[in-house]
Amino acid sequence: MKLTTLILAAGKGTRMRSDKPKVLHEIAGKALLKHVYDLGQCFENNRTFVLYGHGGEQVKAGMEQLSIDWILQEPQLGTGHAVLQAVDYIDNDAIVLVLYGDVPLLQPETIALLLAKAEQNLALLTVDLPEPKGYGRIVRNADHEVVAIVEEKDASAEQRDITEVNTGILAVRGDRLKAWLAKLDNNNAQGEYYLTDIIAMAVAEQMPVHAVAAHDADEVMGVNDKVQLAHLERVYQRRQARQLMQQGVTLRDPERFDLRGDIAKLGHDVEIDVNVLLQGRLELGDRVTIGANCVINNAVIGDDVEILANSIIEHAVVGKGSRIGPFARLRPGADLAEQVHIGNFVEIKKTTVAAGSKINHLSYIGDTEIGSGVNVGAGTITCNYDGVNKFRTVIGDRAFIGSNSQLVAPVTIGQGATIGAGSTITKDAPVEQLTLARAKQVTVSGWQRPTKKES
Ligand code: UD1
Ligand code: CA
Repeated sequence: MKLTTLILAAGKGTRMRSDKPKVLHEIAGKALLKHVYDLGQCFENNRTFVLYGHGGEQVKAGMEQLSIDWILQEPQLGTGHAVLQAVDYIDNDAIVLVLYGDVPLLQPETIALLLAKAEQNLALLTVDLPEPKGYGRIVRNADHEVVAIVEEKDASAEQRDITEVNTGILAVRGDRLKAWLAKLDNNNAQGEYYLTDIIAMAVAEQMPVHAVAAHDADEVMGVNDKVQLAHLERVYQRRQARQLMQQGVTLRDPERFDLRGDIAKLGHDVEIDVNVLLQGRLELGDRVTIGANCVINNAVIGDDVEILANSIIEHAVVGKGSRIGPFARLRPGADLAEQVHIGNFVEIKKTTVAAGSKINHLSYIGDTEIGSGVNVGAGTITCNYDGVNKFRTVIGDRAFIGSNSQLVAPVTIGQGATIGAGSTITKDAPVEQLTLARAKQVTVSGWQRPTKKES
């Protein structure tokens, strides 16, 4: 089956009260329009067109990397008018699927049901809404067959009581659609070309209209304002949380979990505490535990890694059995081997740390290569920046860096070297030796504290 997906996205979206076009607002870090586009990608032999108008250049720029064919609708004279702009691209034997750019949570299974009916029917996606205000109502005859869609503004009082409504999503063969589009007019309360008028045309031609019911209102809900955006964000997050739990992840509270991206690799027995935000592309090994309030963005986390509360990890690799946090920050380019310990208030940037090394307290390590079995004491700072250029620090295997040391890069600390606490190291420290750079301790004997003067 050849599929042509038309995404209607030319509407203004004034109620978002935003300078950004509506369809670029995001759910789970992904533009509404991208959610809809991805739905079309679930089906084979599909070509996607986006009908755009308002904020068009911005929308295109926001979707640059996707293979979308753009069709301008200017001015915007209704949903029927929008589809009419695409007629030249619709093949007679293709099934045309109409989606809305602001309805992001449709499920592929639902669309598959619709498409299965579209060869022989005009297939419509409907939903039952206890409060149908604003929607086109599905009008049925005594045999319960769909005979028309009547827009709210054109509906009689009796029709307004109908709770089965049009979601706007439909599918039908290209040749039939094109014939009906040619006959649309705008003789209605809004002076618009209604796509929904094709239903009555189909009925008049004895083409059966098949209604598929969406299983819940959220699936077919459009985003018109920030309240609805937040509502659908939570619905989507719940959906993802549920899937992860079904895959065996322990989520301490699925209501306080957010994923804005993909878990490309998921191990077993992963445990995630409350208020965790995962972003971008992630790999989580077996038995990974993530403490409360962590943010992890684009990271590869090995088996048995323990990430303690309030840690931030971004574009980093954490090797098997390592322990991070609490309150640790791994910045881009942090690359940790196995059994590494990064403790509280430690910031690591563009640094490789070999197996078994520990940086447990209050340190900044940047542009550094750390060997295995190294112990970096509390308060160590790699001074990697002279205000203009960045320089590297190299620390050999088994080195011991005493607390409160500054390593002024470029500098190399030899294997097994010991740096005395409080040192400012500006020259390379030789292997297996104690190096210190601090003022000698002196005691002034007989010194007395000052006393309060009489006034
Ligand atoms: C439309 C349906 C209505 C249905 C409702 C579901 C028609 C006539 N009515 O209502 O039966 O219950 O959707 O939400 O089809 N758009 C364009 N160009 C236009 C007009 C709209 O691209 O000229 C796009 C909008 O960006 C939006 C979608 O089409 O994504 C629907 O437009 P909207 O104005 O929200 O729908 P209604 O006409 O109110
Ligand atoms: Ca409207």
